[in-house]
Amino acid sequence: MRTFSPFSGGLAVLPVVLSLSLAAAKPLSFGSLKNDTTTAVNKISWAPCNFDLSHYPLPDHIDCGSLVVPLDYTTSASNETLILSLLRSKAVSPTSTHKKSMLFNFGGPGYEARLSLAALAPMLHNMTGGEYDLVAFDPRGTADTITFKCFANATDRLLATTSFPIHDLTPGASSPNAFAENYANAVAFSQRCAEYNLDPTLKKRAEVLTTGMVARDLMAVVDSLHAHEGEDGLLHYWGISYGSLLGETVAALFPDRMERLVLDGVVNAEHYYHHFGIDIDQLASSDPAFRGVLSDCLTVGTSRCALADINSTASELEQTLLEMANRYQTNPVAASGRVINGKFVKELLIIIIKYPTMIVPRATTHIRSLLKGTNLEEVVAFYQAIYESVSMGDNDALAGIACSDKVVKAKDSKDQRMIDDTEYIKNTTEIFGGLLAGIATQCAEWPFEAKGKYEEHWFDEQRQPKVIKTRKPILFVGNRYDPVTPVKSAVTMSNVFEGSRVLERDAFGHASVAQWSDCTAEVLRGYFKKEMVLPEDQKVCEVDIGVFDLGPFP
Ligand SMILES: *[C@@H]1O[C@H](CO)[C@@H](O)[C@H](O)[C@H]1NC(C)=O
Ligand SMILES: *[C@@H]1O[C@H](CO)[C@@H](O)[C@H](O)[C@H]1NC(C)=O
Ligand SMILES: *[C@@H]1O[C@H](CO)[C@@H](O)[C@H](O)[C@H]1NC(C)=O
Ligand SMILES: *[C@@H]1O[C@H](CO)[C@@H](O)[C@H](O)[C@H]1NC(C)=O
Ligand SMILES: *[C@@H]1O[C@H](CO)[C@@H](O)[C@H](O)[C@H]1NC(C)=O
Ligand SMILES: *[C@@H]1O[C@H](CO)[C@@H](O)[C@H](O)[C@H]1NC(C)=O
Repeated sequence: MRTFSPFSGGLAVLPVVLSLSLAAAKPLSFGSLKNDTTTAVNKISWAPCNFDLSHYPLPDHIDCGSLVVPLDYTTSASNETLILSLLRSKAVSPTSTHKKSMLFNFGGPGYEARLSLAALAPMLHNMTGGEYDLVAFDPRGTADTITFKCFANATDRLLATTSFPIHDLTPGASSPNAFAENYANAVAFSQRCAEYNLDPTLKKRAEVLTTGMVARDLMAVVDSLHAHEGEDGLLHYWGISYGSLLGETVAALFPDRMERLVLDGVVNAEHYYHHFGIDIDQLASSDPAFRGVLSDCLTVGTSRCALADINSTASELEQTLLEMANRYQTNPVAASGRVINGKFVKELLIIIIKYPTMIVPRATTHIRSLLKGTNLEEVVAFYQAIYESVSMGDNDALAGIACSDKVVKAKDSKDQRMIDDTEYIKNTTEIFGGLLAGIATQCAEWPFEAKGKYEEHWFDEQRQPKVIKTRKPILFVGNRYDPVTPVKSAVTMSNVFEGSRVLERDAFGHASVAQWSDCTAEVLRGYFKKEMVLPEDQKVCEVDIGVFDLGPFP
């Protein structure tokens, strides 16, 4: 769900052909897994949370838990453990005789999950039907769970990321050497990560951050709820953004245990694991999203959209805004100790397509200021508030996880596969491609040997899907105008999972939490019910509120 990060300098959320086998993906291609039936299943200890919940809705429903799990699931030679930190928002209408829990991941990679659950709980209870306990844990590497770091503190990190930035690759936006420089900067970042994690304990932790490991953690929670709390031992899960990639991975590893899976704001797993960047199709809908928001802007008028009276058509407004970006590119200005250049302007423009309803009206006010060249201090303050709140300012876990997961590795800065993927990303969008393409180099010379990595392909060389049959069909959800996880990736991944369905929302913003839709809520409640109701494939849901309006769950 949150996809900006200081490391990617813009967007992240998020395929080298090794020896391809045409067989169905092996359910347990995990190296030497421990035999679960011989591993003691630990109990979650639930207790009041040790932090202030008063700013969250439904605080009285919430408690926190901890569960001891193996540090490294791939070896039985070690009995080292880590403690997962969980948060639970108890069922609001527990009518069912059978206690059941739904697990969540809200994206990243590299972000916590507990506070996101606490914040979104009322909407999620509504959309899951009220009978589930909602449960999330902070994934390994994030928040306080074996936190992955490459710098001692935010100051050190800021110094480093300023001295090795990721350049915008839009032609004309940076020097012709920008690609090679991005590569060298990424290597420098990798070297700093290696240096910071020289200590054997830290190094060992840096090697167990893969999504494959997190998938095992999910099943450890399920096992515990089964053994100690009488639940069904099957996974009920809703994964948003990067959480969809986690869901795809757990479904490939444990297909027989997938009882309900909603994968929402979908990442193409073949791209994530086997290509550079996060999902090279990631921005495929961002230009239409931008155009659609501008068109809605003109419709709602100046009371909600401060750009509504600039031009009389959306395409004129688009031209005005892109010319503005070019103007700041050729004539950058400084305000509040920060340079406002073309990249800054485009990052601000992305905000209006990524965060409809909550933030977009305010963002248009600041974009108007940029146009007029006024109140630039306030513009900078707004920009920093957004980027810091979504990236948590001080976070290396995105790189720690995404780079651990990468199967493909660049040989050097001239690696043709990396160059091709960079070009591909640039080609997917006219407006934002160059901005994102810089992340294709991001894991260059990653210094850790990750364990538990999911290495199978999802598609063969002829782009034919490997077919995975899950216990119950998966429901994929995508927004037609999602700027960072296009519905195209939902359709692509649906081809891998037998019997799965795609629900397409005629919506802006990122994933189904973005624009309220009764139709979506109804489909999800039906899917989550005991007698599962599946929508027809490619069903389209309309939304009930506009891009500039607040929904029922602010
Ligand atoms: C796992 O353990 C069970 C019970 O001890 C045993 O029956 C089974 O053969 C083991 N499976 C593997 C793959 O070792
Ligand atoms: C596992 O833990 C036990 C008890 O703490 C310890 O005695 C033993 O040496 C450990 N084994 C390994 C392989 O670390
Ligand atoms: C869900 O929220 C909508 C919008 O507020 C409301 O109309 C509906 O009754 C709620 N449904 C449930 C099951 O909570
Ligand atoms: C940040 O960490 C460095 C060590 O790498 C230390 O020298 C510096 O004082 C720290 N700065 C702050 C603000 O804590
Ligand atoms: C759109 O607005 C800008 C800024 O006011 C103005 O310079 C431009 O001429 C307008 N475009 C058209 C086609 O009217
Ligand atoms: C990108 O687009 C250019 C121009 O249309 C084309 O020549 C090139 O083959 C494309 N590259 C990739 C990797 O898609």
